[in-house]
Amino acid sequence: MKVNRNDPCWCGSGKKYKYCHEEFDRRIEKARLEGHKVPDHKIIKTPEQVEKIRESAKINMACLDEVAKQIHEGMSTLEIDNIINDVTYGMGGIPAPLNYEGFPKSVCTSVNDQVCHGIPSADVILRDGDIVNVDCSTILDGYFSDSSRMFLIGNVSEEKQDLVRVAKECCDLGLEKVKPWGFLGDVGEAVHTHAEEHGYSVVREIGGHGVGLEFHEDPFVSYVTNAGEDMLMVPGMMFTIEPMVNAGTYQFYTDESNGWEVYTLDGEPSAQWEYQVLVTEDGYEVISN
Ligand code: MF3
Ligand code: CO
Repeated sequence: MKVNRNDPCWCGSGKKYKYCHEEFDRRIEKARLEGHKVPDHKIIKTPEQVEKIRESAKINMACLDEVAKQIHEGMSTLEIDNIINDVTYGMGGIPAPLNYEGFPKSVCTSVNDQVCHGIPSADVILRDGDIVNVDCSTILDGYFSDSSRMFLIGNVSEEKQDLVRVAKECCDLGLEKVKPWGFLGDVGEAVHTHAEEHGYSVVREIGGHGVGLEFHEDPFVSYVTNAGEDMLMVPGMMFTIEPMVNAGTYQFYTDESNGWEVYTLDGEPSAQWEYQVLVTEDGYEVISN
């Protein structure tokens, strides 16, 4: 599609294209011709959209802060779901997981060898030594935020503590690679290299995603990619860094009785943190974590 250089820019800034995203588009086109995956305009967020998503993220982080205050041994994961509902609706938001592709609850709670998509239940009681991921996703005025944290219950073995710490370090190292005109593979390489240095593996078929205007947008974000591979990162792109780091094999299975809950194939524990990240003009901004 050919735009007139004097027409208003496609981004909605009101500025002439030639003074706005013309150079930006030229750099994207160059990367595309060099064989790289490149982002579509529809996943580039405007400053106004970013502001709305930041508001959504305030609720998202408030939910996890409240879980952090209340989580304890003997509590059921359904009680975590209740906290998410109370905080989210209390602040005017909607929990994104509820009824999403049939998901029955408002948050994912994944304990020990559960990799992701654990369904909160009155029957799942947090026990001494458990590690649990609470993955919270929020809608406010149609804008999405998504982040997750790990929580340790009581006396956790050193092995599990190390896994949780290294999984967080993987996110932090990946985050440092987020910058415009780099590649998602730069993030992926930083993540899986660190995990593997500790003898861990990274789940392959489940990963991160674009987020903000929808719950799950392009691109799929893999953490087993290598530097220079995968999609070009450009300012205004927003995606999650959320590698699932397994103590043993990266292989997993899904509980067919509910179609959601994912477990490690070898029964070894898995840990995951999730950051929602914006690519800025000179690096990144963490929108939610
Ligand atoms: N919150 C998950 C993510 O980080 C997605 C969960 S889908 C759900 O992408 F339906 F289980 F909520
Ligand atoms: Co996510």
